[in-house]
Amino acid sequence: MNLEIESKRSLKRILDSIDLTALTKADKLLFEQRLHSHFPKLFALYLEIYGHRYDVYFYLQELVNCLAKGFSERSRALKLKDKKRLADPLWYKNENMLGMACYVDLIAQDLQDLQAKIPYLKSLGITYLHLMPLYDSPKGDSDGGYAVSDYRKVNEKLGTTKDLIALAKALNKEGISLVLDFVFNHTSDEHKWAMAAKQGDPEFQEFYYMFDDRTIPDQYEHNLREIFPQVRRGNYTWNEDAKKWVWTTFNNFQWDLNYSNPAVFNGITSEMLFLANLGCEALRLDALAFIWKEMGTTCENQDKAHKLIQAFNSCLQISAPAVVFKSEAIVHPDEVVKYIDAEECQLSYNPLLMALLWNSLATRKTNLLTQSMQKSFSISPKCTWVNYVRCHDDIGWTFDDEVAAQLGINGQDHRHFLNQFYTGRFEGSFAKGVAFGENPSNGDCRVCGSMASLAGLEQGIELEDQTLIENALARIQLINGIILSIGGIPLLYSGDEIGLLNDYNYRLDESKLHDARWVNRIALTEQLIDEAKNPKSASNKVSKQLQNLIELRKNLPVLGDANTQILSNENPHVFSYTRYSDTGEVLLAINNFSEHPQLIGSQILGQLGEGPYHEHISNETIASTQNGVQLSAYQVMWITLK
Ligand code: GLC
Ligand code: GLC
Repeated sequence: MNLEIESKRSLKRILDSIDLTALTKADKLLFEQRLHSHFPKLFALYLEIYGHRYDVYFYLQELVNCLAKGFSERSRALKLKDKKRLADPLWYKNENMLGMACYVDLIAQDLQDLQAKIPYLKSLGITYLHLMPLYDSPKGDSDGGYAVSDYRKVNEKLGTTKDLIALAKALNKEGISLVLDFVFNHTSDEHKWAMAAKQGDPEFQEFYYMFDDRTIPDQYEHNLREIFPQVRRGNYTWNEDAKKWVWTTFNNFQWDLNYSNPAVFNGITSEMLFLANLGCEALRLDALAFIWKEMGTTCENQDKAHKLIQAFNSCLQISAPAVVFKSEAIVHPDEVVKYIDAEECQLSYNPLLMALLWNSLATRKTNLLTQSMQKSFSISPKCTWVNYVRCHDDIGWTFDDEVAAQLGINGQDHRHFLNQFYTGRFEGSFAKGVAFGENPSNGDCRVCGSMASLAGLEQGIELEDQTLIENALARIQLINGIILSIGGIPLLYSGDEIGLLNDYNYRLDESKLHDARWVNRIALTEQLIDEAKNPKSASNKVSKQLQNLIELRKNLPVLGDANTQILSNENPHVFSYTRYSDTGEVLLAINNFSEHPQLIGSQILGQLGEGPYHEHISNETIASTQNGVQLSAYQVMWITLK
């Protein structure tokens, strides 16, 4: 079959059959132009996934209809935004970019009240705001909103769709891009599709993976991980209404969608366009690694998962091109990078950097960090990392065992050490974290905790020990300094900007008790923000040093759209890299992961050319004649030519 000819033929047939009269003349032309550019790719992908079905053409036609509907429902303002973004597609690489993630009800009362917090966000320099899922979801435990019952309805506690649209507009006016979750691997068991499936409707039973008995589930189970072994063993849940086993990778009430069914792809595309039309500029692809199941595999990171995401991306290019995708693949580093592509996910969390920053803080060694970043940091210049030190979830030690082995580190033993260290079970540890998802079969676990508590501030404050506090503050500045300079969008988790400590109150709440991730989902109240204004408080110091870094970043274009080279170092405690732009600017970052001063050879400054040099964070001059570069405990240096 000649794909090009067939794709043209199909598009013509489809266009002849659909009604575009609701569009203005100009819009109709634009929509058709976009289809001509992007339909061939979408067509090829769709055929690859669904081409074996006799009814594929029906679904293809339905899909184009759905794209037309999404496009026609897009507001004039958002269509203008599409134009603007297409003219400046790499907007997310700007040095001004600074992200924050938060739960609406942990930073405000509701969506309306959140509008009142925009000045606070602006004072921090935020340009990207990720609101954790705010859709209708089951009462009680809803996995923090990651069990969606209705994508088109805002959770009543938070407000209405109107409030959300108003918020998106208000944010946009202030130069803040709204980021929403696209929870598309699963719905809640209260979603109307799941309700119909429970009632025995075969059409909707095909929207999920449902089995009469354990035969097939057991065959799959051989190769599957368990994500939440603390709540349930295995990957399936018995549903009494339907009298069937349902595939539930996460909680029992989160039903995995069946993407081998094109009705699911089309249905979810329509929900995706609805979210795009609310005014968000990025969609966070939740749990994207799990969307394709293939017998005999781990059912993670399957080739078809990539194809599906590319197909969703093509749909956006046609109906809402201002919106980009952000990958949430918390998997092996070699798999993480496979989702990153201008035609797949333009943005991606950087879980490897995140995990290895904590690793280097624990070990005071940077070899694993350096080697891993040398291997995995470089991605397509059209894409960018979202660099973070922690998020609303647990920390998993997702480094590459082979890279570790080359350095004489045994992956499994080392993960065990890191878990011990960060849950405070290791003698001499500064960290106060909580174990999460302990697997009774193999002893695996992950770690939860706020940035400040994991970095030692909680311990320092508890013991009223000034040195411990100083060290914790320096560690915080160090890791924040790296996410702000290494290349990508730095993403703060709300409350970390003032160094909030763990909140153990989740243990008093029946619906949260089993999920230790709540220890690091901390309410950011006005009172706490006020307290952080007291210059004697540790939170004030966290905030001041962060503000300084943010200010500097915004004035150093080389920290925006520029390249990164990770340097090898003779000093085992030092991590360093250069940023260099196509226009010849260079910045050298040197980071000391030890609580002891370090000296490194002055030849490193040669990266910048002949001195003198300027170190921006301390605002000091470094003479070119100097013998070596002296770093104090945990010091971060951003050096350019003076
Ligand atoms: C994502 C979310 C996490 C959630 C899971 C299931 O990884 O970050 O909070 O539990 O997906 O939706
Ligand atoms: C695992 C999954 C990730 C999910 C997390 C939830 O790390 O890979 O997708 O968010 O668990 O805690």
